[in-house]
Amino acid sequence: MRVLGIETSCDETGLALYDGQQGLIGHVLHSQVALHAHYGGVVPELASRDHIRAVLPLLRDLLQSSGVEAATIRGVAYTAGPGLLGALLVGATIGRSLAWTWGIPAIGVHHMEGHLLSPLLEPDAPTFPFLALLVSGGHTLLIEVRAIGQYRLLGESVDDAVGEAFDKTAKLLGLPYPGGPALAQLAEHGDPHRFTFPRPMTDRPGLDFSFSGLKTCAITFWRSTAQTEADRADIARAFEEAVVDTLAIKCQRAMEATGLKTLVVAGGVGANRRLRHHLQHLGKQQGWQVHYPRPLFCTDNGAMIAYVGYQRLQDTRLSALPDRYDLRIQVRARWPLDESPIGIIR
Ligand code: KG4
Ligand code: ZN
Repeated sequence: MRVLGIETSCDETGLALYDGQQGLIGHVLHSQVALHAHYGGVVPELASRDHIRAVLPLLRDLLQSSGVEAATIRGVAYTAGPGLLGALLVGATIGRSLAWTWGIPAIGVHHMEGHLLSPLLEPDAPTFPFLALLVSGGHTLLIEVRAIGQYRLLGESVDDAVGEAFDKTAKLLGLPYPGGPALAQLAEHGDPHRFTFPRPMTDRPGLDFSFSGLKTCAITFWRSTAQTEADRADIARAFEEAVVDTLAIKCQRAMEATGLKTLVVAGGVGANRRLRHHLQHLGKQQGWQVHYPRPLFCTDNGAMIAYVGYQRLQDTRLSALPDRYDLRIQVRARWPLDESPIGIIR
């Protein structure tokens, strides 16, 4: 079975084809970074308009480059939320319309389930069960994954998501959008010993996170310096060290609490080199298997949506859900994972 995936929840237009026998057979991505850079952040209306321009040409490219006939596609999966409402509506409307035209089911996918399962697209895919650290611009979650659709939430951020903390701190330091990668790049040149940031919520039991205090800490340090390029890099480095350390401490705690031996890291911040390196190193010490998607599949992409769509179509428990041939287009800007059709076990 072959499924088309469409991702348009924020500032990347991603399309991909996943095939049950052949795996991922093609993926294309159009980034809107240049479009939003001038404004220092994503402008929702511009994002929607750009998705409209991009989706169909990308679909043509995808079909051509993978040599696939549209008639062989058996389902269309699109991101139904969470994300920017207008942007989601573009992918949902086009996805729903294509499915209607082709006479096949359409599946609205939860964006975070896409991130959660993205490491399974890789050739050295992890085996169940595993612990997933999901770190993106909107979420920071620790989830025990028993199987596809069997998720137990162990911890989450009580305030800013970790990607959001990267982006806000980058902005405070005067770095250009997109802030996370810019801050990470700058941190490479920073002195890790000059400033020390706290490791929030690590001094008490529990698996929740809090990252909003780190940006306040960054601005306090920044104001105490002469604000040179070296000061900026040193603060960026100290911030990144604190984030990586905090995530690692909570991962270790969760691995010990669950007895799991496989750790999976996904979501945009999973592309962070220091985080990848640190968890890999910790994993070696602890005897864990550590898995990541390739950096391109850490950030938003169509492949993860096609993959979830494929899994959903395979799932007999869900074959009775009414929305597959329902022509209403429903998207959700906010969508807790536990309200998705599969749901999360608390
Ligand atoms: O998963 P994603 O592409 O979109 C959401 O679903 O949110 O994640 C985007 C987030 C942004 O906050 C971005 O700054 C962050 O991931 N990010 C990074 C890096 N690459 C992307 N943060 C730190 N280091 C990176 N290399
Ligand atoms: Zn995402």
